[in-house]
Amino acid sequence: MLKLLATVITLFTVATTSVTSVTAQNNNPIVRGQYLVEQVAMCADCHSPRNEQGEFDRVHWLQGAPIGFKPIFPMPAWAEMAPSIAGIGNEGSTQEEEAVVKLLETGLNSQGMPARPPMPTYRLSHSDAVAVVAYLKSLNSN
Ligand code: HEC
Repeated sequence: MLKLLATVITLFTVATTSVTSVTAQNNNPIVRGQYLVEQVAMCADCHSPRNEQGEFDRVHWLQGAPIGFKPIFPMPAWAEMAPSIAGIGNEGSTQEEEAVVKLLETGLNSQGMPARPPMPTYRLSHSDAVAVVAYLKSLNSN
């Protein structure tokens, strides 16, 4: 009986410890940014290349891709390509990082213009925009 009780207590300790570490991980901006990019804003739909089966090429994750669809009505400003967003700012350019934070927060680029369609005009909170950029910065750019 005592042995069983000891096992139950050990299991409980293990369970609560792992819950604590998951919570701590969610406060990590890179983890939050990955969640926003992959599960909410779906940046990969446009910015990640695909293989011949139409599956994401994870080796070149977010490294830029042709836009695979067209508008029903002609849109003169339509962009045919989504640029690479992997590794943004990892060459030490804080200016580039700040410009992307601003774009995701306000919908305007460094020239004060929205990016061309179909790039959505996001209105993320400042901390979410910073988290997305932290995640993009953590990625390989080639
Ligand atoms: C529906 C397609 C689509 C989605 C989804 C999308 N983008 Fe884009 N993005 C584009 C296209 C197309 C461009 C090129 C626009 C241009 O040339 O002006 C672009 C441009 C950009 C640029 C460069 C902007 C500039 O003016 O230099 C950044 C940075 C960017 N996207 C980040 C993101 C991030 C981060 C996400 C997810 C939070 C995202 N995009 C989601 C299509 C998309």
